[in-house]
Order: sequence, then C-alpha cells, then structure tokens
Amino acid sequence: MRIMEANIISSLFKAFSIRPRRLRFSKEVRDLVAETELTPQHFILPIFVKEGISRPTEAEGLLDYYVYPPTSEDLIKLINEALDLGVRSFLIFGIPKEKDELGSRAFAKDGPVQQALRYIRKELGWSPLIFTDLCICGYTSHGHCGLPKETRRGTVIDNDSTLEIYSKIAISQAEAGADFIAPSGMMDGQVKVIREALDKEGFSDVGIMAYSAKYASAFYGPFRLVAESAPRFGDRRSYQMDPRNAKEAIKEVILDVEEGADIVMVKPALLYLDVIRLVKETLPFIPLAAYNVSGEYSMIKAAAKEGLLDEASAFMEALYSIKRAGADIIITYYALNAARLLKEGRENLF
Ligand code: PBG
Repeated sequence: MRIMEANIISSLFKAFSIRPRRLRFSKEVRDLVAETELTPQHFILPIFVKEGISRPTEAEGLLDYYVYPPTSEDLIKLINEALDLGVRSFLIFGIPKEKDELGSRAFAKDGPVQQALRYIRKELGWSPLIFTDLCICGYTSHGHCGLPKETRRGTVIDNDSTLEIYSKIAISQAEAGADFIAPSGMMDGQVKVIREALDKEGFSDVGIMAYSAKYASAFYGPFRLVAESAPRFGDRRSYQMDPRNAKEAIKEVILDVEEGADIVMVKPALLYLDVIRLVKETLPFIPLAAYNVSGEYSMIKAAAKEGLLDEASAFMEALYSIKRAGADIIITYYALNAARLLKEGRENLF
C-alpha cells in the first residue's frame, strides 16, 4: 500500500473509531464480510485408473484414496457421488500394465485412460467434465516425462522427439472423449504441438489446461508411488522449474497462452502461493488452476492421523488460502470432503 493511502486510512480509522472485532462476533457477520468463497464447481478431482485390477484398491502413499479399474461400476459410482456434491470436473491419470521406452500405453486405443474415458462417456454422457493428464512418466520404463537421448553431454531428456509422442497421446485422448488435455511434462512447445494436432484432427472443441509453472518438487512423492512414475535415473530438474524462481513463471504462462492454452496452472499450490498471486495479477483474464499436490495432501492427512491437526479445518484453511492467493480452480484430492463440508455449512470450522 502506498504511504499516502495508508495515512488517509489510518485517519479514517480514528474518525470512525473502527473496531475490527465488530465484524467477527458471529458466524453470520463473518460470512457476510468474507472475502473468499469456495465452491465445489471450481474443484477438480484427480482420479487414478489402473489396468489389471478388478476392484478399487488403496492408493499407496495417498491416505484414504483409491485407484480404480478403468471400466468399473465403482468408477461410475465415484463420479456420480462427486456430481451429486457439485464437483463436476475430473483429472484422469492412467497406470498401465506394461511400460516401455516410448510409453506406448499412453497413446494406445485401449490404454487405461482411453478405456476409462469411453466407458464414462457411454455411462454418463458429457455431463462430467473430463481432463486427461498428458505425460509419459507413468508409462515409460525410465520414468521420465520425455524420451532419453545420448548426447555429448551424456543422457538428456530430448525435447522435440518427445513432442511427437505428446501429439499422438493428445489425439488418442481426444478421440476417446476428453474435454480438456492437460500436458504436464514441461517440454518446450508442448502446448503448440498439441493445439495443432487437435485442430488438424478435427478436435477444435477440445481445450488445453497447461501445467505451465510446474516446479521440480519433493511434494510429488506420494503421487509417484501411486502412479509408479518415479524417474529410474536422475531427476526432473532439466525440465521442471527451479523452486527458487517466481518471475520465471510469468514467462512460462505467457508462452503457454500464446501457444493456445485455455487454462494455465501453477503446481504445487501451497508452497507457491506467491506464484499463484503473481500469475493472477499479471494475466487476470486467463483462468488459473492450482494443483494442491499429493505431498501437500499427505502432510495434512498424516498430521491429522497423528492427532496433531484437525483434518477438516486444516484442509479447508489450506483450500481457502489457495483461492485467496488468486486461483480460480483448485485440483485437490480433498475435493469430495471439501464439497461435503461446504454442503453441510461446516466449511469454516477454524
Ligand atoms: C506427471 C505428473 C506428476 C504429478 C501430476 N502429473 C508427477 C511428476 O511430475 O513427477 C504430480 C501430482 C501430485 O503430486 O499430486 N508428470
């Protein structure tokens, strides 16, 4: 705040003898002046579908979370339950039976995500809004988001050969019924090639939610256990962003918007609230999603299990802070519980 403004405001406070606590004395008045609201239609629920299982199985590493068979009544039940609670958007991740160098199951017609999509469309039509994660780390034998290549610098993750695979995946996901493709591999130019491929194949109605500012984070640990997607050698620092950088996120976001992203994303969320704020203030007209990642979810879950935190209050406070920072959309493993708390009017227990 500028100094002049601060002076004027403080003299106003004196003139009217403002007592901030007057606006906090009851739930009604707190709700009246609340600056931030959470709404279930702004949540996206991640869903894992895995080949070769016949019933939902517990997700290793993500407490109270499940992995579903791609074509099962249980999957449809989960989506229906979410729809009833007002959560209408889903982000699908596939876990294949077999991995190879190229990640072929990511673009196979009968890959886990493609099977799940066709099944969901058959059972529920177009009412759930389906986002598909586009990456190969869970599908490749090496566990990287791009293709390794031997160069004079040793083994590197090659950008442009990876893009060819990404366009194949995008087309196969669009064919199977995706509403939005969500590329998460952080290759340069990925949004451009995906947009071009989709348009060329007649999928101009399919949107792109770009993982624009995705950081090389330790907080993806639980996800990698579930998706079996940890890199088998090296790390992801040559393609994911450096946690020391915030301004660089603006560059990534602008590039993605220029390349055709409809929605951009900052990931993780809680540790990058400053980046969420910066992106929102720089490009307020672009819908911004924030991914409250697996490690952030597990921290609260594990602390609550230990009796150190109240689970519901801690999660709601975390979700409010992500929204308050400037996210329009929140991808969270807690979406259903949060929607339930909102429905019951128990959303601000803190
Ligand atoms: C795939 C992908 C990852 C996540 C989303 N998409 C893992 C990674 O980059 O290693 C992480 C999500 C989470 O931790 O909840 N590239």
